[in-house]
Amino acid sequence: MSYQFSQFGTHLGCGSGIEELMDDLGHALASGGPDLKMLGGGQPARIPEINAVWRRRMEELLEENGGLERTLSLYDPPRGNPQFLAAIATLMRETFGWDIQPENIAITSGGQTAFYFLFNLLAGEMPDGTHRKILLPLVPEYIGYSNQGVGGNLFRAVTPLIEKLGPHDFKYRVDFEQLEITPDIAAICASRPTNPTGNVLTDNEISHLSALAKQHNIPLIIDNAYGAPFPGILFSEATPFWEPHVILTLSLSKLGLPGTRTGIVIGPPQIIAALGSMSAIAGLSNPNIGQQITLPLVRSGEILRLSREVIRPFYQEKCKLAREAAHAAFGEEIDWFMHRSEGALFLWFWFPGLPITSKELYERLKKREVLIIPGHYFFFGHDDESWPHRHECIRVSYAMDEAVVKDGLKIIAEEVRLAFDGR
Ligand SMILES: Cc1ncc(COP(=O)(O)O)c(C=O)c1O
Repeated sequence: MSYQFSQFGTHLGCGSGIEELMDDLGHALASGGPDLKMLGGGQPARIPEINAVWRRRMEELLEENGGLERTLSLYDPPRGNPQFLAAIATLMRETFGWDIQPENIAITSGGQTAFYFLFNLLAGEMPDGTHRKILLPLVPEYIGYSNQGVGGNLFRAVTPLIEKLGPHDFKYRVDFEQLEITPDIAAICASRPTNPTGNVLTDNEISHLSALAKQHNIPLIIDNAYGAPFPGILFSEATPFWEPHVILTLSLSKLGLPGTRTGIVIGPPQIIAALGSMSAIAGLSNPNIGQQITLPLVRSGEILRLSREVIRPFYQEKCKLAREAAHAAFGEEIDWFMHRSEGALFLWFWFPGLPITSKELYERLKKREVLIIPGHYFFFGHDDESWPHRHECIRVSYAMDEAVVKDGLKIIAEEVRLAFDGR
């Protein structure tokens, strides 16, 4: 017996490249031995000092009068807990001087859900029968956006400029000459810092994109999953940005609370109200627990101190060690580049002229128990299949133990060398 699926069901319920990859990674992880090196996921590291804070907060909630009930036994309003919304608005006003009120904020069940709602709210089939798209000003971009359109592909991506900054060092830049805001563009979207590359769009790039969005009366979506003020996994000088036509998304995940599924969207009240309506229809309300755990930390500003003094230095040190290990592993014999690490949890490698595809490199590495993400998945919305660059890159997480990252990088370098040797 087989049932018929709707268009929605066909687009979302029948598998995707990313699902296959996640499944493959999951099986490899489940069946892998103690030598498996998981450098593929976006799992944040376990930071003992941060985990101690969550433990303390859970105990406080249990001891506090009404704490457990607020956390577990209430439906919050669809747009989020009013006290949490007020605390975030105050934090943003006091930290950045932005004119943010609770009406500018909605909670979603993780940042991922925020993007599902936002993209489908703004783009896809419009009431007049036309189709609108989300413009990615540069790719590679976050893989998690790629299959979210309920009516199929939602993205148009622009080829970036590649700036070589040293013998093994490069950075992507927005190619404003190629970036055209046609009437079918519904919004511009970029992650900053970027997953997968660790790129941080410069202040100039952001103000240019913001001006373009404003001029065309469309929103600029900035995905701040790794950015300021929390979790603050940001190693370069970059000014946090918001204007009334900007939609800024934050998440508690990379702070160390991915299991609480808490996304925070800051944006124009019309869009925020729509997100509340969508949350009500899709899920009635959102998980309370992340909001209750972090509420006093947001109110006191402790969340900023933890981000600045614990989380950022922790990742910055890990990133530095991973980059050193990469230089030691790859050496000088082959042509390899690593994207400048300006934030997030990943190293992004580019092997110009790699004789095999990154997908094949992934397969070879999996046989050697090293799991990475092949780069081509991050070039969705980009039509030029013939651009070799999209098959020459891989993403490697450095959030795992140093020894695992170091050993994994050694094996990656060996396999890349073998590929260049024609083996
Ligand atoms: C750039 C980016 N945006 C959004 C998300 C979604 O995160 P979550 O749904 O856990 O908030 C992730 C997760 O890895 C991410 O890397």
